[in-house]
Amino acid sequence: MYRKSLAVLLSAGLILSVNGVYAKNIPTSQDNPSDTAFDNKIIKKIKADNMYDIVAKLSEQPRAAGTEGELIGVNFIKDEFEKYGYETELQPFTFLDVLVGTGTLEINGQAYDPYVFSGSYSAKVTAEVLHVGKALNGEVPDEVKGKIALIERGDIPFVWKLQNVLDKGAVGVIMYNHSGTSNRVGVANPGQDIPAVTITKDQGLALVDQLEAEPLTATIDVRDSGYVENTSHNVIATKKPHKNKDTGQIVVVGAHHDSVSGGPGANDDASGVSAVLEIARVMANMQTDTEIRFVTFGAEELGLLGSYHYVSTLEEEEIDNIVAQFQMDMVGSKDSGGDHEAGGLIMYTIDGERNTVTDLGAAAGARTSEVIPYGQLGRSDHQPFYEVGIPAALFIHAPVEDSYHTPADTIDKIDKNKLKQTADIVGASVYQIARFDTPALEHARVAPGPVDYEYDDRPVQ
Ligand code: BES
Ligand code: ZN
Repeated sequence: MYRKSLAVLLSAGLILSVNGVYAKNIPTSQDNPSDTAFDNKIIKKIKADNMYDIVAKLSEQPRAAGTEGELIGVNFIKDEFEKYGYETELQPFTFLDVLVGTGTLEINGQAYDPYVFSGSYSAKVTAEVLHVGKALNGEVPDEVKGKIALIERGDIPFVWKLQNVLDKGAVGVIMYNHSGTSNRVGVANPGQDIPAVTITKDQGLALVDQLEAEPLTATIDVRDSGYVENTSHNVIATKKPHKNKDTGQIVVVGAHHDSVSGGPGANDDASGVSAVLEIARVMANMQTDTEIRFVTFGAEELGLLGSYHYVSTLEEEEIDNIVAQFQMDMVGSKDSGGDHEAGGLIMYTIDGERNTVTDLGAAAGARTSEVIPYGQLGRSDHQPFYEVGIPAALFIHAPVEDSYHTPADTIDKIDKNKLKQTADIVGASVYQIARFDTPALEHARVAPGPVDYEYDDRPVQ
């Protein structure tokens, strides 16, 4: 305590002697006592129990994009925002969902038990089999027209192989693995209208031998596989600035509400959603000079689809006005008692550089708990914001726990203190931008660090 006050006096004295005035409005010192008082207006109200209850509720069922479970989560989140008094919008968007089907394969009367390519076209075809090696670009023979191509895995992506034989008029694909004993590989793109299945390496090599001796006729029957259009949603709650005191700037606070299929996603990322909701709750009645958008994204696990969609709907001017995006993803895991301890908080940027968000986060961390390091990582919804030039960072605990993307990502793995620490830091950072007493942030994309904080390249997984 003594040391902290001394630091305040010293830094205030320094500013006085250099500038002649104490520039109390510049949000640069972690020791500014008024910053701490403002932080307290947020963090004293942030309740770990609220967040924990929200994670428990959301993780009652998996929330894979486009499923009933996601919709239950989306409506719950919307209701919460509305309970706090926010105008809330559901933003739908469509995506192509993969259907997992079944398939059979018979060659010269012998039945196989093939794997169906993920997204394979559904059809039944019978035709002669032609071995086309790895179906490399420019190397597929014209004779494959009307035939089933037998392809070796390797060297180029699955979808290129499919395209190369499709372009030559093949009617079906049997791919064999190039190693191991598994056949569980293969992906087709939407629009590649050819049934495609996989067999093991041994099975494939046996067929190659057999083809030397006799012609082979195969029947591939793929059912209920392919792509269908599905719908996911983003949830957007907006806090408008005070009408007489508006900097015109916007801050986005985000997390993703979808989970992987079959996983309850308590930490990934009901935890982030709970922090977004709790920050929204405590800020609901606070006056700000900055617009704050609380957004939970859908279909993150399918390739950041919700955040890409959200960013694609922004006008140029809005993009210019968004000065920061805070993403929270996996912010609550506790020690599992397994091989490793749960990781500590870190801020990741796409380019591995500090930015406005990490500067604010590091300073808020210094004031509220500890200085948070930064590092370089994508893999979450800060990516699309970065791509349009918005300072963005992911707040996450790394390394991640063993239950990541498994059915074991459940509420009992959640640590209330971890949730609280992250929500405190992000809440205090957001309030530092949005409160009346601080000036609008400069549009400089990289602000000088208000506190010293370190680059950290710890393993993530
Ligand atoms: N929460 C994860 C991202 C993550 C996982 C970051 C582990 C750091 C450590 C996120 O939901 C996710 O799983 N993302 C995908 C990528 C996305 C583009 C589909 C991933 O990392 O595989
Ligand atoms: Zn996630």
